[in-house]
Amino acid sequence: MALTKSVEWLKRSQQVLAGGVSSDVRRAELPHPLFFQSGKGSRIVDVDGNEYIDYVLGQGPLLLGHSPRPVVEAVHEQLEKGLVYAAQHEAETELAELLVQAIPCAEKVRFNSTGSEAVVSALRVARARHNRKLVVKFEGQWHGWYDSLFVSTAPTLDQAGAYDHPNPVMPSRGQVQNAAENLLVMPWNDLDVMEKLFRQRGIEIAAVLTEPMMCNAGSIAPLPGFLEGLRKLCSEHGAALIFDEVITGFRLGLGGAQEAFGVTPDMATYAKGIASGFTLSAVVGKAEWMDLISEGKVVHAGTYNSNPVVIAAGLATVRYLKENQDTVYPQLYRLGELLREGLRQRFVKAGIPALLGGQGPVVQASLTDAATLRNYRDWVRRDVATYSKLVTRLVDAGVRTITRGTWYLSSAHTEEDVAITLREVEAILSRGL
Ligand SMILES: Cc1ncc(COP(=O)(O)O)c(C=O)c1O
Repeated sequence: MALTKSVEWLKRSQQVLAGGVSSDVRRAELPHPLFFQSGKGSRIVDVDGNEYIDYVLGQGPLLLGHSPRPVVEAVHEQLEKGLVYAAQHEAETELAELLVQAIPCAEKVRFNSTGSEAVVSALRVARARHNRKLVVKFEGQWHGWYDSLFVSTAPTLDQAGAYDHPNPVMPSRGQVQNAAENLLVMPWNDLDVMEKLFRQRGIEIAAVLTEPMMCNAGSIAPLPGFLEGLRKLCSEHGAALIFDEVITGFRLGLGGAQEAFGVTPDMATYAKGIASGFTLSAVVGKAEWMDLISEGKVVHAGTYNSNPVVIAAGLATVRYLKENQDTVYPQLYRLGELLREGLRQRFVKAGIPALLGGQGPVVQASLTDAATLRNYRDWVRRDVATYSKLVTRLVDAGVRTITRGTWYLSSAHTEEDVAITLREVEAILSRGL
């Protein structure tokens, strides 16, 4: 597959865009950052005219596929009526009402633009309630790139420190070490370690922040009892349990992971999946927490918050999901299972040790001979080099996937898409990586 124009554009952009990209995550694209011109449904087309079945889906937001009709129409209509009011409008209340109906912990809502902002908003509320500083985050989890949270997202095992007391590792130069001084990094899926921590420091802990499924590191599911145990510890010690549902929200079900796993946090954050690619995020939570904002004790702001364009996209997306939940979610789960099982069989046939995980439309392939994955340190030992070769060859075969092994499905994907994909994977593996 020719990538000539992409290569030319990359050279040109490197003259003016730092590194040729606008987010460092995009540097990881294989064989190199590509340039795209359009997307429709499950397909995306690059500037050389190559079409791909897209499992990247904008790194998650395109839960309904590229440019879904109801969202495009709602946004078109709004574009004629105004872009930013810096004031309230009806649709933002309607969308908040839908979130309150759909999400178990949601009694009150505030909107932001990005996932990073929504998480920071939740933490400010959590710290304010009992005037505590410490926040627990888990090793390998990604909650945005702001200084105080961009910690231990992908440490090497050399940097990581003791298992039960990991070092806070800053991924970027320019982050001051004390940005993490109120953060405790812990291993995921280990309730004993968390119980010990709460026995020692429970009175200081404002919040436990967690992705309910570790989508950014192996899509590792919570062990039975882990989320329930966190719920109990937080309740006993007056800490907020915050689920970062930026990826799982609306994807694992209309009520997100908290509905799927049956554990209700105090607050939760949403972004990818809520507005089909428009920059909308939300922090939601129980009134006893969110009312710190209602009462003006905690400040939450943002010029672009709930502008009518992104809200139109959010309203159209969530309405569509609500009205079609009986067909959309079973279909997403069915396709997820087809892809997961199909990939598993093909790795077995090729004699490549692999674990297939994730849930529903989040499919995860990790090349490893481990029997099971429990936390980041298990996952980081996978065979990245071989998997990268597969991702690169898939590009050549018209299939675009995420280098860390995650495959997102949308409501626009079809059985035919999955069948073509599996055929290509099989052909590549049979030639050897
Ligand atoms: C779980 C999770 N939380 C927060 C974020 C940050 O969202 P954003 O990139 O919109 O700031 C991400 C982004 O990938 C994420 O995956």
